[in-house]
Amino acid sequence: MGYAVIMLLIVFLCHEVSSISILPHKHQTISLLKFKQSFTIHPSAVTYDCPKPYPKTSSWNTSRDCCSWDGVVCDDITGHVIELDLGCSGLVGTIDSNSSLFQLSHLQRLDLSSNYFSNSHISPEFSKLSSLTHLDLFESGFSGQIPYEVSHLSKLQSLRISTIFYGKKLRLTTHDFKSLLQNLTQLRELHLSGINISSTIPLNFSSHLTTLRLTYTGLYGIIPESIFHLPNLEIIFLGFNYKLSVYFPKTKWNSSASLLELHLSGVNFSDNLPESLGYHLTSLRSLALDGCNLRGPIPESLSNLTRIEYLFLDGTIPPGMLSLPSLNTIDLSNNHLSGPLEDFKSNSLISIYLEGNQLQGHLPHSIQNQVNLTDLTLSFNNFSGRVDVSLFSNLKQLGELSLSYNNISLTNDNNVTLPEFLNTLELAACEVKELEFLRSANQLQRLDLSNNKIQGRIPDWAWSNWMPSLNTLNMSHNMLSSVDSIPLPLADIIDLRSNLLQGSLPIPSNSTTFFFISHNNLTGEIPSSICNLTSLIMLDLATNNLRGEIPQCFGNITSLQVLDMRHNNLSGNIPTTFINESSLRSLNLHGNKLEGKIPRSLANCKDLEVLDLGDNHLIDTFPMWLGTLPKLQVLSLRFNELHGPIRTSRIEKMFPELRIIDLSYNVFSGNLPSCLFHHLKAMRTIDPSMEAPRYFGNTYYQDSITVAIKGSDREIVRILYLYTVIDLSSNKFRGQIPSIVGDLIAVRILNLSQNGLQGHIPPSFGDLSSVESFDLSGNQLSGEIPQQLASLTSLSFLNLSHNHLQGCIPQGPQFHTFESNSYEGNDGLRGFPVSRNCTDDRVLDTNDTASGLDDEESNSEFHSNFWKGALMGYGSGLCIGLSIIYFMLSTGKPIWFARIIVEMEHKIMRGRRKKQRRQRNHRRRNNHF
Ligand SMILES: *[C@@H]1O[C@H](CO)[C@@H](O)[C@H](O)[C@H]1NC(C)=O
Ligand SMILES: *[C@@H]1O[C@H](CO)[C@@H](O)[C@H](O)[C@H]1NC(C)=O
Ligand SMILES: *[C@@H]1O[C@H](CO)[C@@H](O)[C@H](O)[C@H]1NC(C)=O
Ligand SMILES: *[C@@H]1O[C@H](CO)[C@@H](O)[C@H](O)[C@H]1NC(C)=O
Ligand SMILES: *[C@@H]1O[C@H](CO)[C@@H](O)[C@H](O)[C@H]1NC(C)=O
Ligand SMILES: *[C@@H]1O[C@H](CO)[C@@H](O)[C@H](O)[C@H]1NC(C)=O
Repeated sequence: MGYAVIMLLIVFLCHEVSSISILPHKHQTISLLKFKQSFTIHPSAVTYDCPKPYPKTSSWNTSRDCCSWDGVVCDDITGHVIELDLGCSGLVGTIDSNSSLFQLSHLQRLDLSSNYFSNSHISPEFSKLSSLTHLDLFESGFSGQIPYEVSHLSKLQSLRISTIFYGKKLRLTTHDFKSLLQNLTQLRELHLSGINISSTIPLNFSSHLTTLRLTYTGLYGIIPESIFHLPNLEIIFLGFNYKLSVYFPKTKWNSSASLLELHLSGVNFSDNLPESLGYHLTSLRSLALDGCNLRGPIPESLSNLTRIEYLFLDGTIPPGMLSLPSLNTIDLSNNHLSGPLEDFKSNSLISIYLEGNQLQGHLPHSIQNQVNLTDLTLSFNNFSGRVDVSLFSNLKQLGELSLSYNNISLTNDNNVTLPEFLNTLELAACEVKELEFLRSANQLQRLDLSNNKIQGRIPDWAWSNWMPSLNTLNMSHNMLSSVDSIPLPLADIIDLRSNLLQGSLPIPSNSTTFFFISHNNLTGEIPSSICNLTSLIMLDLATNNLRGEIPQCFGNITSLQVLDMRHNNLSGNIPTTFINESSLRSLNLHGNKLEGKIPRSLANCKDLEVLDLGDNHLIDTFPMWLGTLPKLQVLSLRFNELHGPIRTSRIEKMFPELRIIDLSYNVFSGNLPSCLFHHLKAMRTIDPSMEAPRYFGNTYYQDSITVAIKGSDREIVRILYLYTVIDLSSNKFRGQIPSIVGDLIAVRILNLSQNGLQGHIPPSFGDLSSVESFDLSGNQLSGEIPQQLASLTSLSFLNLSHNHLQGCIPQGPQFHTFESNSYEGNDGLRGFPVSRNCTDDRVLDTNDTASGLDDEESNSEFHSNFWKGALMGYGSGLCIGLSIIYFMLSTGKPIWFARIIVEMEHKIMRGRRKKQRRQRNHRRRNNHF
C-alpha cells in the first residue's frame, strides 16, 4: 500500500507540468492506479476461458486520460468511469474490502473474469457499486461464501460468478440464493455454475431471463415447470445436478420458440421424453440429455429439430437424426448404441464422435461427402468389412480419424492417400499391411498402428513425413523387422513392443518420455548414450537379447520411474549409482546374468514400489535395509544365490507396504524370519479399498512378475494391488513355523515348501481367511493337520505332501475339492480323499462352493464376464484368476482379449478426452457451464 502511494507520488511529480489529463477525474485515476498496483501481472496466468491473457493494465499511466485507458469506459457527459473490462488480463493478487475498486461508484459494467484472485472472498463492498448492471467474476479464483449484499445490486441484468475449474470453493446459502432471485428483477443472465448452492430451485425468476446457467451446483428437488414458461429464455444449463429431477411440460412451453440450448446432462427424468419435444422446441441448436436415465425410446420427433447442431444423448439413434440438415457435431461416444450407422443425408457434419458403442455393419459411403469433416472417431465398435482409404481421401479438413478395434480391414485399392492435415490417426487392429496411404500426411502428431500386419522396415519417406510433428507413435504388435533409428525430434511416446526387431537398440530423441521396445529380438549392448534421454519416465527393454553391462549412468536419470530389462542376457553388476533424487518406481531386472551384490544405493529410491531381481546370479545376504523404503510393495529375489539367516532388525516399521515377497530358490538358512513377519503391515490388514481391480502401472506399462501359483511358475502380467504373496520355498529354512504367520491375514499365496521345517502346523493358520494357495510340501512337519484349516473358504490349492503328518484330514467345503496328491508321502493321514476310516467322513455338497478358477484356460464364460465380476467384487480365488487372465494376454494375446482390456482402459482415457473435447466444443460457441 505504502509502495503504491509512493509510486503515485512519483507519477504525480513526473507529470506535474505536462499532464492536464489527470485533473478532471483525479479520484478515479488514483483509484484505478491503486487497483492496478494491487496486482502483479502474469501473462502466462492461463485460465479455462482465457488461453492467452492480455495485460490491459500494463499500458495504464497518467500520460493519457484514464477514460482512454485500455478496458476503461467513461460516461460522455459526466466523465465517470462506468465500465471496467479487465477480463482475462493476467491479474494475480487479492481483492479485499479496502480495494480502491469500490470507490468507482458509478460503475455499470464490471468484468474481472478469468484472472487469479485466489484467496479473495467476494467482498460485501461490491454492493456499493449500486449502479452495476453487469457483474462478471467468472472463473477468477474467488472462494468462500458469496455475501448476501450482492442481492442489493437490484439493477443487475447479468451476474456471472461461476467457478468450475477452481474446484468447489464458492458457496451460496439457500436463503441468499432465494433473495438474489427475488431481488434481481432485471436479471437477464444468471451464471452460477460450479458454486455450491445445494438448494431447491425457487419459483420466482425474473421474467426477462434469457440465460440460466446453474450447472454442477448441488441443486436438488424438481425443476419448477415455470422455468420452461419463461417467455424469453434461450439457454438452460442445469446439468450435473444429480439430485435434480425434471418433468417436461405436457403442453406447449412458453419459451419453446425461443429456447436455443437445453443442457440437462445427468438430471433425472421421471418420465419418458415427450414426443411433443420435437414439435415445440423448433429453434433448438443444442441438446444434452446424456446420463439422464431416459426410459423408453428417444422420440422420433427429435428429427424435426432442424436447427440442431450439438447433440448429446444416450440410447438408440432415432432414424433421420443424423441427417438433420444443420447438424454439425454429434457426440454419442461411449454409449450403448447398436445397429448400423445410417447414411448421412446432409453434408454439414464437422465432428462425429461415436466411439465406444456397439454399432455394426459397414461404414456408410456418405462419409466421403462430408467435405467439412474434421473429426471422425468410430473406434471400439463392431463395424465390419473392408474399408477403403478412398472413403476419407477427399475429406481435406480431416484432423482426427479413429477406427481402432472394430472388425474392419483397411484396404487401398485405388492407391490414394489420407488427407494431409491429419494430426491424429488411430488404426489399431485394422489389418493394416503397408503405409503407402500415409504418403501425404505430414502433420501427424499421434499415430496408432498397433496390432496390425505391418512388415519389414519403416520406409525413409515415412520418417521424413513424421519428423516435423509426430510425438506419439504406437506400432506395437506388428511384424517390423528393423528400425535403425527413430528420427523424431518431438518424440514423446514410442511404442514398438512385440515386433520382430533385430539389430542393436535404436535410441530415440531426448524428448522421449515413454520408450517401449520389449518383446523383440534386439542384440548387442545397451549404449550409454541412452542416458542422454533425460526426460525418460518409462523404459521397457524386456525380453530381447541385449547383452553386456547395464550402463552405470541409469541411476542418474532422475525422471525415470520404470526401468524394465527383464529377460535379456545382461551381465556384470547392477549399477550402484541410484541417487536420492531418483523417481524410480519399478526396477525389473529379472532373468539376466547379473552378478555381485544388490546395490545399497537402491535404498535411495524412496519411491520404489516394485523390485524384481529374480533369476540372476546375485550373491548377497537378505537386504533387510530395503525395509526402509516406504512404498516398496513387491520384492522378488527368487533364483539367486542369496544366503544366510534373515536377521532381526530393530528398526520399527520395516517393509510397511510389502505385499509380495518372493525369496524362493535361494540358500537362506536359519529359522523362518519371525522378525520379518512381525512387520509387513500391509499383509496384516484387509483393506476394503483394495476391492477394485487396481494393478501396478498405468495404461502404457504394467508391472509384471513371475510367481509360483498352484505349484507352477506363472508370469503375472499385471500385478493387482490385492495380490499378496509370501514365497520362501526351496531354501534351507529350519525349525518350527512361527504361529505369527497366522497374523498375515491378507496373504493369498503362502509357500513354505521344500525347506527343512519341523514341528506342527500352527492352528493360527486357520486365520488366513484370504489364502487361496497354500503349500507346505517337502518339509519335516509332524502332528495332525489343525482342524482350524477347514474354515479356509478361499483355499483352492493345498499341498501338504511329503511331510510326517498324521491323523484325520479336516473336512470342510474346500477340503472336499482337493485330491489325494495334496497329502501323499506323509506318515499316516486318514480320511477323505485318502481313505474312509475317519469317523467324521461325510461327503459334503460342494456345488455352491466352487473353488476359485479351477481350470483357468477353459473357463471362457468367466473370461467374457471377468470385468463384470471384477467390478462386482471377488469370489474365492478370483485374485489368482485375474492374474492368470492377464497372463494369457501376454502369451496367447487373442485380439478379442486385447480389445476388452484396451477398451476398458481407453474408456477411462477417452472419458477424459471426451470431456476435454466437450469443453473445447462448447468453448467454441460459448461454454458448457
Ligand atoms: C433487495 O435490495 C434492497 C436494496 O436495493 C435491499 O434493501 C433489500 O434488503 C434487498 N432484499 C433482499 C431480500 O435481499
Ligand atoms: C416431424 O417429423 C415427423 C417424422 O419424424 C413427420 O412425420 C412430421 O411431419 C414432422 N412434423 C413437423 C411439424 O415437421
Ligand atoms: C463447408 O464449409 C464451408 C465454409 O464454412 C461452407 O461454405 C460450405 O457450405 C460447407 N459445406 C457443406 C457441404 O456444408
Ligand atoms: C502408389 O502411388 C505412388 C505415388 O503416389 C507410387 O509411387 C506407387 O508406386 C503406387 N503404388 C502402387 C502399388 O501402385
Ligand atoms: C536434447 O538434445 C539437443 C541437441 O541434440 C540439445 O540441444 C538439448 O539441450 C537436449 N535437451 C535435453 C533436455 O537434454
Ligand atoms: C534373433 O536374432 C538372431 C540373430 O541375431 C537369430 O539367430 C534368431 O533366430 C532370432 N530369433 C528370432 C525369434 O527371430
